Parts: sequence; structure tokens; C-alpha cells
Amino acid sequence: MSDRPRRRRRRPVIVVEDVRRTYQVTDDLAVHALDGVSLTIAAGELVAIMGSSGSGKSTLMNMLGCLDQPTSGRYLLDGVDVKDMDEDEQSDLRNRKIGFVFQAFNLVPRTSALANVELPLSYAGVSRGERRRRATDALKAVGMGARLDHLPSELSGGQQQRVAVARAIVTNPSLILADEPTGNLDSRSTHDVLRIFETLNAEGRTVVLITHEDDVAERARRVIRLADGRILSDDRRVAAGEAA
Ligand SMILES: Nc1ncnc2c1ncn2[C@@H]1O[C@H](COP(=O)(O)OP(=O)(O)O)[C@@H](O)[C@H]1O
Ligand SMILES: [Mg+2]
Repeated sequence: MSDRPRRRRRRPVIVVEDVRRTYQVTDDLAVHALDGVSLTIAAGELVAIMGSSGSGKSTLMNMLGCLDQPTSGRYLLDGVDVKDMDEDEQSDLRNRKIGFVFQAFNLVPRTSALANVELPLSYAGVSRGERRRRATDALKAVGMGARLDHLPSELSGGQQQRVAVARAIVTNPSLILADEPTGNLDSRSTHDVLRIFETLNAEGRTVVLITHEDDVAERARRVIRLADGRILSDDRRVAAGEAA
């Protein structure tokens, strides 16, 4: 370790500027799910986003993942304004750069773990042998190497979520977005899945993790709290043993 004080000045991956997202529910009812949010996330950060139900976490996540667009304000992903991309460019970006993990594992039923993880590679036009090799590696990386041929119904919740994580990382994305990935898991599986996110982060990937569990957020170096569509706090901690 160097004695030189390190000022982290990493490239911003995510720049959100005064973003609002309004759902017009009826003519005279509008919900301001995001109400002026600004934040910057640098490459290689692990950020926990917290907030009670309805505070706007999923709305923010969907926007970060280009699944939804702000009503106003700007969102730059890797320096590019998402508004300037067409549908094809956005979906291409989602496939190449972003790995999603959701609370409901969203695995394809009656389809093996291996085939589930191969799926994003099929969309990307990767050859059969290469798909098999990479999906096997991804499943091994999440400790599921011995369950390649199992169907989702033959796996526990924690195991299904690990398969979902393998599916999210098989394309080697630089950004991982997880929306309450441990919300349906017991504490043991929660621990296992969080360890995997920490490992992915240690490998250099940017991880944004939505959670409402305090013990999850305690492990993150940066915690952003949302309330009523606004940022309540954005706290950074220096981990033990790390130079300030
Ligand atoms: N499609 C939608 N139409 C109308 N209102 C919505 C829609 N999606 C979310 N909302 C509202 O926006 C607010 C934020 O929702 P959401 O981002 O899902 O919160 P969280 O993920 O923090 O629970 C809530 O008040 C919710 O009811
Ligand atoms: Mg949500």
C-alpha cells in the first residue's frame, strides 16, 4: 500500500441531474415518484439505495437501467445522454453493459439453470459452445456449478437468486443493478448473495443495490437514502484498513 493519500477520482458511470419522474395516474392525480434527484456514481463503486416502500427506489433503478425515461432532467450513462439514444441503442446498451437482478428471480420455468444463464448470450448471438462454456463459468462463480441441469422448481430461493445473478453477469457487464435482490431470501442466502455482489464489485464492477435491510446497507461503503422521491442523505464511509 502506498503512503500517498489517494484521492479517488474515478470516471463517473452514472450522472443524474435534477431528474423527475411523474406518473400521471388520472387527469387530476400525478405521482411524483422522483422529485428532483441528482447523483453521481463513479466506476467501481458499490452503492446501497435505501428508502421505505414507495420512496422511488425502483423508479430510480429502472431509469438507471434505461428501462424508463425521466419526465425531466438528465441522465448520462458513461457520458452519453440516454435521451439521445434510440430504442435499439438503448437495448444494445442494456445487453452489453448492464446486468439486472430483481427481487423475484424471474427465471424461465421448466428450463435448466444452464439454459437460463445462456439466454442473454443467445440474444447476443454467441455460438452454442461458447454459450455453454461462459454460462457454466458464471454458474461456478456463484457456487452453482453442481446444479447446472436443475430446473428453477428444483432449487431453493437462494439458489434461484444465485442463478439469476449468474444470468446477470454472464455478458460481463460493467454495471450491475439489483432491486431488492435479497428481499425474498432467508438470512443465510442473503449473506451468500451479498458476498457475490461484493466479489463482483471487488473485480471492478459498479454495483447499485436497492435494499430496505439495514444489515445489507451496513456493508456498503456508500448509502443513499430516498424519501418521497428525493435524496434524504448520501453518506460515504471509509472501510477499515483503507486509506482516506
Ligand atoms: N406505473 C406507475 N403508475 C403510477 N404510479 C406509480 C407507478 N410506478 C410507481 N408508482 C408510484 O411511484 C412511487 C414510487 O414507486 P417505486 O419507485 O416503485 O417505489 P419503491 O421501489 O421505493 O417502493 C409510489 O408512490 C408508487 O405508487
Ligand atoms: Mg421497489
